[in-house]
Amino acid sequence: MFIKSITAFNVYFKFNTLRKQPSIASLFPSSIHSYYDQTELKMSCFGRLVSPRAIVKKVAEKNIKYNKTFKNPWNATWIPCLLEFSDWLLNGDLHHIVFRKLAFHRIVQACLMSSNSTIKQLVILGSGIDHIGWLFSEKCTCFELDIEPMIRFKKKIMPPVNQNIHYSNFNSINNSLSRCLNKQSAFNPNKPCLFITEGFIDYIPKENLQSLLSQIKRLHPKNEWISTHFDRSLLSSKQRFFFELGVQITGEQLQASLTKEHIISIGSNYGFVLVNEWAGIPELLDEQTTPINSKLNTIEKRVLDRENMNGCTIMYFK
Ligand SMILES: C[S@@+](CC[C@H](N)C(=O)[O-])C[C@H]1O[C@@H](n2cnc3c(N)ncnc32)[C@H](O)[C@@H]1O
Repeated sequence: MFIKSITAFNVYFKFNTLRKQPSIASLFPSSIHSYYDQTELKMSCFGRLVSPRAIVKKVAEKNIKYNKTFKNPWNATWIPCLLEFSDWLLNGDLHHIVFRKLAFHRIVQACLMSSNSTIKQLVILGSGIDHIGWLFSEKCTCFELDIEPMIRFKKKIMPPVNQNIHYSNFNSINNSLSRCLNKQSAFNPNKPCLFITEGFIDYIPKENLQSLLSQIKRLHPKNEWISTHFDRSLLSSKQRFFFELGVQITGEQLQASLTKEHIISIGSNYGFVLVNEWAGIPELLDEQTTPINSKLNTIEKRVLDRENMNGCTIMYFK
């Protein structure tokens, strides 16, 4: 199975490993675990990196039962080591991945549950292999937009979906967002939407972001927008080097890094007002959900005991 966007796979791979660590697992609902449990089994190409011979040898040496969990190559011991190494190169990256998945889950849920919220539809731009559409399609109509090979790939690995999720091949550089949504018979232009751009705006030119925001507000004045924002100028030189090198290796193209003030100003030009922002996991936890420090394993410490990378925030605009 060939995955066109390696950056999307990278986010999936990291989060899928991190969410299995006990103290991190408890921060997420079982529905999210169910999505990853089901999709990882379908992504067999990654599994081939672990040779069946190595598994058999390990079973023989350690006298472990050759059960289904052990056979799942996503649980191989070298995977957490790879993550630790990547966090060493890009300090704070693992915190960032868990932070954004947790934040998006909480914010979208709050938006849909709030009695005074007007949001009736979700539109996920550059949805990659994420779980948001699958998870929330039980509560409202969801539209996932991404380039054609990613949508094709996602349809193959998705767990059974209900009628409320709709996929569109969409390249923001060449396609009109309004036209793409209006082509979907399930899309209701009279109902406000929450537009989600998680890990997406770093890959599109500024003019394209401006055009998307203008279309979003023209579609419906009550449309809302939530996005990750990554100000690379605030990273240390080592972090910046490894982040940019990592993306370069995937063959995807990062655009100029915009400051938070730039994004707020672009948003306000199209009628978006920043109503909230978050910068790290502690802001999302209370006393009951904060994991106990002494019980954390090495990976969990890297996520929960470290700070998020400088300049990484989540911004919510109305
Ligand atoms: C870093 S991944 C993030 C995936 C997902 N939102 C997440 O956070 O797990 C970026 C995604 O944006 C998509 N993408 C990049 N440029 C795009 C464009 N011009 N039009 C549509 N999708 C694009 C990629 O295919 C990829 O799925």
